Amino acid sequence: MSSKIESSKGKHDEGVSNPSDNRPFHDILAAHLSRRTVLTGGLAVAATTVFGAAGTALAAPGRADDDRGRRRDDRRRFRRLMDFRPVKVADGSGPLPSISADYEYQVMIPWGEPLEPGGPAYVQVDFENPGDTDFADLAERQTRQIGIGHDGMTYFPIDRKRGGRDRDGNAGNDHGVLCINHEFGDNNQVIGVPQGQLPVSLDQVRRSQHAHGVSVVEIKKVGGIWQQVKSDFARRIHVNTPVTFSGPVAGHPLLDTPNGNVPLGTANNCANGETPWGTYLTCEENFNGYFGATNAEQPWVPTEAQLRYGFSQAGFGYGWHTVDRRFDLSDQDYVNEENRFGWVVEIDPFDATQTPVKRTALGRFKHEGATVAIGRGGRVVVYMGDDEVFDYIYKFVSADNWQAMLARGESPLDRGTLYAARFDDNGTGEWLPLTMGNPAIAAKFSDMGEVLTFTRLAADAAGATPMDRPEWSAIGPGGTVYFTLTNNSGRTVPDAANPLAPNPDGHIIRFKDSADHTGLRFDWEIFLIAEDTHGTEDTFSDPDGLFADPDGRLFIETDGGQKDGLNNQLLVADTRTGELRRLFTGVTGDEITGLTMTPDRRTLFINTQHPGNGNPNLTNFPVLNAVPDGVTVPRDATFVITR
Ligand code: FEO
Ligand code: CA
Ligand code: CA
Repeated sequence: MSSKIESSKGKHDEGVSNPSDNRPFHDILAAHLSRRTVLTGGLAVAATTVFGAAGTALAAPGRADDDRGRRRDDRRRFRRLMDFRPVKVADGSGPLPSISADYEYQVMIPWGEPLEPGGPAYVQVDFENPGDTDFADLAERQTRQIGIGHDGMTYFPIDRKRGGRDRDGNAGNDHGVLCINHEFGDNNQVIGVPQGQLPVSLDQVRRSQHAHGVSVVEIKKVGGIWQQVKSDFARRIHVNTPVTFSGPVAGHPLLDTPNGNVPLGTANNCANGETPWGTYLTCEENFNGYFGATNAEQPWVPTEAQLRYGFSQAGFGYGWHTVDRRFDLSDQDYVNEENRFGWVVEIDPFDATQTPVKRTALGRFKHEGATVAIGRGGRVVVYMGDDEVFDYIYKFVSADNWQAMLARGESPLDRGTLYAARFDDNGTGEWLPLTMGNPAIAAKFSDMGEVLTFTRLAADAAGATPMDRPEWSAIGPGGTVYFTLTNNSGRTVPDAANPLAPNPDGHIIRFKDSADHTGLRFDWEIFLIAEDTHGTEDTFSDPDGLFADPDGRLFIETDGGQKDGLNNQLLVADTRTGELRRLFTGVTGDEITGLTMTPDRRTLFINTQHPGNGNPNLTNFPVLNAVPDGVTVPRDATFVITR
């Protein structure tokens, strides 16, 4: 066993370093890993797809007579699941992406492109003389352009809307609507304001705000190339778009401001989800960092809840609050404005006139994603992570069958129970209800409006297990739920579910919920520990984006400092054995995130976020210069990957 844990810090992991190499839970881990076959469900058999056929010759789990037979079956299965040549570590660095020799990629919808053909063209800020830039014009254009910080996304086939075929007779595999999140963009890249300096005008901040949020774009494959088309559905939802609240907190005084301003905007849209009724869920994550305090009227004195949610006087340095009073925590006209962020927001991809709805029953925290399952009795279950060191994993269970609720004119996301997870060291766990019926909750809160607005405090009171930054979740074959725990350099005391202290490179946990996702108990185990892959061709760190396909592949995207000079990457894991194969690496300084497929699974979409960290000396992507020119600012973009 290694006696020294390497220190590696990804861009989001500036946590406390800890010299301890205490790892007392490796024994427990071994026990959990050996239970793997208990959790693995039956294999779904799919038709041939871009990711290879999971053929009928595969053995079912546990069919092999002995270990040797099982290993042989596993090898055969892996070859079928991972029918592609991997990107080698040596080829996965530098200013340009690399992809498996069996695949190709196309670049689509970079930041600043028009939302539809004929829209306003991208204009790069004059970085030498940013003062010469007409930011009012750039801000207005940005409302009709693709946003920045590409993140979670869902492809909705056009035939969901148009009765099976589009106007040209194509099935939705070649024509759809892409809903894509825009999480963040550095001020340097967006408005030419260097790190450490503040924006000087509201027009600058408006460009930044309009670059955040969600894009809805209609895309179509024409002559083998995916392109945007003129669309009735195309729209931008950003920080100043009118929104509405629904569920238990709607109408609660905690969402009212003294000046009575209407609710506006969604921000820091990270991962995502998709409902069985065909809507898109976008999740608000790092909203705390976009507020700050000028103390212009009176000094800001943070509340318990504001501290728990990480609000600070300077925020993350974006400085919106210095010119937009709405984001000034010390402005007495906007008390409670910050309570309007940190929610899961529902968007109809096929109705550009719909007002986005913040679904308050799903709680308020730094939402990473919202992965939806249909549970027992047709209830919808939403799995969600709160991406902060020592924060929690949650699930929401609707009160009733989703179709029955919709038939009554009620959203299945408006009434139900929110739970936080407690992971016990014996490999089981319990979902703790965040309801007034829970004595630990009733002792601290006076109504569900408070509980759901201050979800973190409620989960603290309920006794949830602090995790190593829960990011994305995915549901694999047999209903097994996977969560990435991206890293936690500040952990000093390990537990069975977070067994490394510190944990600079992260791990992936998985669990099987009782009662078809709706029960109070679950069985869990560690699926992968990033550190265990270091020094091998399969090395990865900081798992973040996650997607499971019905054949038993788990797609893992990374965001953080990879080993051996690797750029961030997309790997595919066999959910049975944990074996990995690298499909794609991004460009220097980026993060690989967002993952969706066409229904036939022949086309995969992923994103590069913050390529080169916005620095044109590192990469000019999507301009494919092997030697960066130092002038052309890199732009976040979507990759279309095909065999
Ligand atoms: Fe937006 Fe936690 O990643
Ligand atoms: Ca993430
Ligand atoms: Ca991350």
